[in-house]
Amino acid sequence: MRSPDLSFELAGVTFKNPVLTASGCFGYGAEQDGLCDISRLGGICTKGLSLAPRPGNPPPRIRETVAGMLNSIGLENIGIDAFIEEKVPLLTGVDTVVVANLFGVAVEDYARLCARADDCGRIDAVELNISCPNVHEGGVEFGVDPVMAAKVTAAARRSTSKPVIVKLSPNAGDRIVSVARAVEEEGADAVSLINTISGMAVDVRSRRPWIAKTYGGLSGPAIRPIALRMVHLVAGSVKMPLIGIGGISTWEDAAAFVLAGASAVQVGTACFVDPSAPERMASGLAEWVAEQGASSVSELVGALRSE
Ligand code: FUM
Repeated sequence: MRSPDLSFELAGVTFKNPVLTASGCFGYGAEQDGLCDISRLGGICTKGLSLAPRPGNPPPRIRETVAGMLNSIGLENIGIDAFIEEKVPLLTGVDTVVVANLFGVAVEDYARLCARADDCGRIDAVELNISCPNVHEGGVEFGVDPVMAAKVTAAARRSTSKPVIVKLSPNAGDRIVSVARAVEEEGADAVSLINTISGMAVDVRSRRPWIAKTYGGLSGPAIRPIALRMVHLVAGSVKMPLIGIGGISTWEDAAAFVLAGASAVQVGTACFVDPSAPERMASGLAEWVAEQGASSVSELVGALRSE
């Protein structure tokens, strides 16, 4: 029996399978070498990159919760120039798609970041982070407003010919559909959803929040049903491909997102538990596609039965 075709094509870039790692959960990629065979992944999304390096938020900035994790890292990163100079060379010869996750505090920042990414041959696609809930400027303030999300996308589209993915925020509620439509109209090639949901945890002994900045973004299995619904909702409203994110921990979870309408998935919090989880998901998905009698995973995208 021939093994099924797991590949996913996005605006001229081919991902060998639909399993990617999510931004912020897999470093800049190469650090994970030895813990995971990166070449077996469909792609990796880098940590969020800004124009200048950022120290991030003060600690504590991570807290495990029931079936999930709260984080308020504050987009700590080395900046796009250092990423291109120091980290990109480590990815030479790694046979996987590299998606640079980009974060700005102004619309013009996204244009400059995309132009910089456009000049780097090893960056295959960009993901616009308009959904981080942990920063005062930019981030989710763009992601909950269709007009701002459209402006950021238009600026990015003018600045790069590489595929543009826009990472959406669940904090927009059902307005996430309007945000997705707005970015599609401005030339986004795909949307990835969902980023984390704003939350809080309290240490009752000290009577302080566990997270120094009080609130954080909740991720992990706790948010999976919410993510699945949002993917299903958005899939019915746009034509561009969707990349599902939100508590995906097993191949069955990934398959559920495919059936709900995602052409690919990103694995985030599960990488902290087991960095090789995404690798195994790709194998599990291949067996599932064959078992379903399909010759490619794309045949199962949105193939949820309604009765
Ligand atoms: O705080 C953070 O760095 C989180 C980023 C994000 O959710 O995109």
